[in-house]
This record gives sequence, structure tokens and C-alpha cells, in this order.
Amino acid sequence: MARVEALSMSGATAIPAEYVRPQEERQGLGDAYAEAAACWSAAGSPRIPIVDVAAFDAADPASPASLAVVDAVRAAAEDWGVMHLAGHGIPEDLIDALRGAGTGFFRMPIEDKEAYANDPAAGRLEGYGSRLAGSAGEDGKREWEDYLLHMLHPDARADHALWPAHPPEYVPVTKSFGEHVSALSSRLLAILSLGLGVQAGTLERRLRLTSGEAQVEDDLLLKLKINYYPRCPQPELAVGVEAHTDVSALSFILTNGVPGLQVLRPGDGQTWVTARDEPGTLVVHVGDALEILSNGRYTSVLHRVLVNRQAVRVSWVVFAQPPPDSVLLRPMPELVQGDGAETPRFEPRTFRQQLERKVLKKTNDQQEDEVKK
Ligand code: SIN
Ligand code: FE2
Repeated sequence: MARVEALSMSGATAIPAEYVRPQEERQGLGDAYAEAAACWSAAGSPRIPIVDVAAFDAADPASPASLAVVDAVRAAAEDWGVMHLAGHGIPEDLIDALRGAGTGFFRMPIEDKEAYANDPAAGRLEGYGSRLAGSAGEDGKREWEDYLLHMLHPDARADHALWPAHPPEYVPVTKSFGEHVSALSSRLLAILSLGLGVQAGTLERRLRLTSGEAQVEDDLLLKLKINYYPRCPQPELAVGVEAHTDVSALSFILTNGVPGLQVLRPGDGQTWVTARDEPGTLVVHVGDALEILSNGRYTSVLHRVLVNRQAVRVSWVVFAQPPPDSVLLRPMPELVQGDGAETPRFEPRTFRQQLERKVLKKTNDQQEDEVKK
């Protein structure tokens, strides 16, 4: 399996054909630093909102301070589907340690990382890999990144044999981070529930209820994906991650400060907005599961990642998601039944079905493109 890191280190000045994106996808691609500078310096250019949730008091959700937080989170989730989250409560030294541990893993020689290689063709998605979902690279279908993927939380579901043994602090630091993100996702879902006018526990319960509605599953599942984007000699032809929405309920993102993430602001035509580095914050995406539960009030944000010539970019993404088969995702009855009911905008489906739907749609779109060519 060719690793993008090896390609990058080879010194080649042209990237292989399978990384060259189709012409129609190349508009707006470029070196992430140049694109970021252009986006940030344009007068009046839109900015992803920064939302501070520290003042939200779960014990007093009706206080003016709590209500102000609910309102700010609701507006960001409706208008953008993405926000920089401040006041998240995860200690800064833990975040630094997490960055150090992941970077320590990727600093190992490729041969050593291969001991953790995944095998998507055999259904083993967790581990060190170079393209999620694994299909062999046809022209223009590969992404300029390597990654490490594993279950993060609940601990009982995590296979620690797949977690790096090097550096030695990887396991304790990453585990502790997972516990913090689990608590944070519950807190944010409570705020987002109140933003929909339903009780604080509603969204999380709907994400965890089995179809019989009797049994509440374990905590939401958290998966960690560390993305490693090597330097790229032709960033105007490649992407780190192609445009997509996340299937998760929420995704939490940290980076090493190198720009690259772009989001499409809904309703703003085709303008990609490059995320800034806002120290002390996490980027949070609304994913498909939350868009469905909220009947489309919250927006699953379309995003992609640019690469650059000069610096390796690393990001840590935690996906908070329901169990794949036992929870039926559908617009919450609280929104689509009774007085003032909205028309349901989504058919019920499980998380796995939503994933399969997207893969199918992509395959169909590609086939259509091929017919058009
Ligand atoms: C993603 O959300 O798909 C990647 C995020 C990132 O690398 O910033
Ligand atoms: Fe994503």
C-alpha cells in the first residue's frame, strides 16, 4: 500500500494521476496558505462563528446566561452547521499532550506504522490507512492524506491492541481525552436540544434509544481519526479530503495550527470559507445524524481539506455517533407530531443505512459523470 507520506518524501515534483482531481472539482483548489490568506484578507468575508459555552449551567438552563449560550449555539448550528467552540472545559495541557502523542506516532518510520495497518478490503477499517472505505484508486479518486482510525469511547468497546504502543503516553492521554469529549458531547447535545425547544436530554436520548424505545444504549460511540496531510508539490490539483458531510451527530476537530479545512456556508453560493486557527477552541461540525433528528433545522456542513507545499498538517477528529444498527434516526416526534408539527423532511434510517445511502449516491453520481464524459 502506497503511503502518501512516502510519495511526499520521494521528492517528486508531480503527483501521480490518481491524486489529480477531476477538472470540475479543481475550482478554488490551491495551496492552503495562499487560499487562507485570500479568504481572511477579503473585506467582509464571512467568519465561522466562535461560541463560548462556559456560561451554560445545566442545573439552571433557564438563567439568562444559559439562554444566551443556547441562542448562540442554535444560531451557529442553523446558519453554518459549524462553529469554533470555546469554553469547552477540556484542559489545555491535555490537548497539548494529545497533539504530542499523535504526532509521536506519525513521526515513526512508515515501516513501524505499518504494524498498525488496517485492511478495508477485509472489513478492518480501524488502524493506519490511506483511504477510508478503501476502494482502489482510480484516476482522481485518491486523497492526499494518511490516517490512524480507532474507537475511542466507551472504553469497553475500544480495542487497545489497535492503539499505538509508541509513544508510551498515547494510550492514557488519548483515553482521558475521550472521556472529556464524551462529557462535552452530552453537554452540547443538551444545549442543542434546548435550542430546538425540547428538553435538555432529548437529542441524546433519541440518539441512544433502541427501536423498542425501552432500552437506552451505552454512551454515544466516539471514534478518533488522526489525519496526516503531508506536504504536496501540486496543491492546486489535489485535496486532503474531498467535499463531504459527516455522517456523525457531532464531530470535534483539533489541528496542529496549519490551515486547510474549508466549509461551504449554506446559502452563500459556492464560497468556501477557510477555517482560522482560533487558539483554545475546538471546531465542531453538525453531522447528518443531527440534521435528520432536528428535521433539517440544524445543518450538516459540507466541508473539504486543502493541502499545501510547505508544512505537514495534522488534525484530530472525534466523531460522536449512535450505534450503527439499533437506533432509528428520524425527525424527532417532538418536532413532527402534535401542535405546530413540522412536515418530516427525512425518511427513518439507521446510521449504517445513512452511510450506505451516501456511498451508493456517490457511486451513482460517478457513473453519471462517466456517461456524460
Ligand atoms: C474532516 O472533517 O473531514 C477533516 C477535518 C480536518 O482535517 O480539519
Ligand atoms: Fe469530515
